[in-house]
Amino acid sequence: MAPSILAADFARMADDASNAIEAGGDLLHLDVMDGHFVPNLTMGSDMCRCLRRALPDVFLDVHLMVEDPEMFLEPLAEAGASHFTFHIERLQGDDARRLADRVRDTGMSAGICVNPPTPIEPVLEVAEAFELVLVMSVNPGFGGQAFMPEVLDKVRAVRSAEGDRIRVQMDGGVGLDTASRCIEAGADVLVAGSSVFGRPREDRPGAISHMIVF
Ligand code: DX5
Ligand code: ZN
Repeated sequence: MAPSILAADFARMADDASNAIEAGGDLLHLDVMDGHFVPNLTMGSDMCRCLRRALPDVFLDVHLMVEDPEMFLEPLAEAGASHFTFHIERLQGDDARRLADRVRDTGMSAGICVNPPTPIEPVLEVAEAFELVLVMSVNPGFGGQAFMPEVLDKVRAVRSAEGDRIRVQMDGGVGLDTASRCIEAGADVLVAGSSVFGRPREDRPGAISHMIVF
């Protein structure tokens, strides 16, 4: 379970983030948006640095929804990010493989992400160069959108091509009513924003365990 801090209270970030880990989150998902690749602005390496300082041992999974992911590689690595996922819509083929190698050179693991309208084939072509494939189940940019079940076939395709070697993550509209479908299709990392942070704190442990045990 990867609580997405986009849905946290930005004025109480460290407190909300550590609460999500105490509630059963395994890692934290950070959405970096640049106002160009998606029509929203969120956070960047400064937020990552502050979270790393507040939570030294937590795995920080950064999702780059930006026009130029390379621009953010060194700043995020220096800020203590653990993982770096960029979009196949921005880099394909050898360009994507090269950036994955550079991500690993910094000590992070590398992920490749695919938006709902984009076919899975360009991802399958480069998947061997990555530790994780992120299948978006909403059009990226905002939390709280409805899950798009038609992307589940992409999860199945990645799992059948790559077997257990790779992590398959889903992001967008994952909640109590959709998590089981993601897991049945082969996903093993679930990002959840509003279905975690949108609840009162006392309800978060129950919500997280419901999503992974059903
Ligand atoms: C959407 C982001 C997600 C977002 C998910 O563009 O990539 O990580 O926080 O939010 P929910 O879980 O509310 O759909
Ligand atoms: Zn995300």
